[in-house]
Amino acid sequence: MIPLSVPHIFGNEAKYVQECIETGWVSSAGAYVTKFEEVMAEYTGAKYAVACMNGTAGLHLSLRLINVKRDDLIICPNITFIATLNAVTYACARPLLVDVDTKTWQMDMDLLERKLETETYQEGGNTYLKSSKQKIAAIMPVNVLGNIGDMEKMLSIAKKYNLPIIEDSTESLGSFYKGKHSGTFGKLGVFSFNGNKIITTGGGGMIVTDDEELAKRGKHLSTQAKISAHEYIHDEVGYNYRLVNVLAAIGVAQMENFDKVLKRKHEIDAFYKAELQAVGDIEFQEVLDGVDPNYWLCTIRTSKMRKLLQYLNERKIISRPFWMPMNQLNMFKGDPYFTDENHSAHIYENCISIPSSSNLSNEQLETVVKTIKEVY
Ligand SMILES: Cc1ncc(COP(=O)(O)O)c(C=O)c1O
Repeated sequence: MIPLSVPHIFGNEAKYVQECIETGWVSSAGAYVTKFEEVMAEYTGAKYAVACMNGTAGLHLSLRLINVKRDDLIICPNITFIATLNAVTYACARPLLVDVDTKTWQMDMDLLERKLETETYQEGGNTYLKSSKQKIAAIMPVNVLGNIGDMEKMLSIAKKYNLPIIEDSTESLGSFYKGKHSGTFGKLGVFSFNGNKIITTGGGGMIVTDDEELAKRGKHLSTQAKISAHEYIHDEVGYNYRLVNVLAAIGVAQMENFDKVLKRKHEIDAFYKAELQAVGDIEFQEVLDGVDPNYWLCTIRTSKMRKLLQYLNERKIISRPFWMPMNQLNMFKGDPYFTDENHSAHIYENCISIPSSSNLSNEQLETVVKTIKEVY
């Protein structure tokens, strides 16, 4: 079996976990939580980092932190993993879906700019959708597959329409735009350490921000909004969204080897491109000038997607289709969707993710490529 994207554990993980167990610091307090937050803040260049139990919780918390209200709209790409929109729904808000760029597969910023111009109005410093009079409360771009879209355009849109940015950077640890790390462009950015991500804690997440107040309140809300260390007094409805020390310990160990993992991801991408770019109608995600992606999960676009999917999986080369676009899911069919040509549908019908784990051997990569070529 050649897996799709699995944990790569080859450092101090067991040692640090053992230490947690031996000292009894296995739960939500402990030095590794703070250490992991420091490591993540330093790596991303954010001033503050708040650990949480997973990326979905981090996104939900972030929406609470910017005081999203019931029925507010959050601008999200139509192609993303469901967790982005689940978090929006937990916050009692609704998505305003935006089609993706046909080349980068990221939220189409030109389309967003055009539609905001014609479909919205401004009042009292806020932006509202004309058709429903709902307030647009934030933009939540997603760095799909570790790639990054046109951030400059996004920043100018956010400024013009007075919209805070929460970056769903769950897939893009190690991705940079003009030297700046993903997740650090807006008010808040969120990372995931799910088992399939570029590093993992088994399950985990991290919010990053430069805003001290947001960081403090994020920690507070993730800790049941408890105001005293020794008494059970709470000042608002909070969550038990903390990351536990034993998982943070794994995160610290994973980050010690992150450079090696990132280097291997780049090698895997370069190998696939060299071998597959000229095969049949295979295309890769376009990377814009100034973007340095982490190449988390290699995904190719081809009209033979369904055939390839079956052929590879039958041979135990684990491959997956892309996420069904959000506007096609029952829960979001009625939500507004900015699109001209519905590129999302074509991308969904033609994209397939192929094995990309950083612990794949060169022999395994050659097997993947050889098997793909058999289909053309
Ligand atoms: C785009 C996207 N958003 C959100 C999440 C949620 O992260 P988690 O699984 O840590 O809750 C993930 C990953 O699973 C994701 O890929």
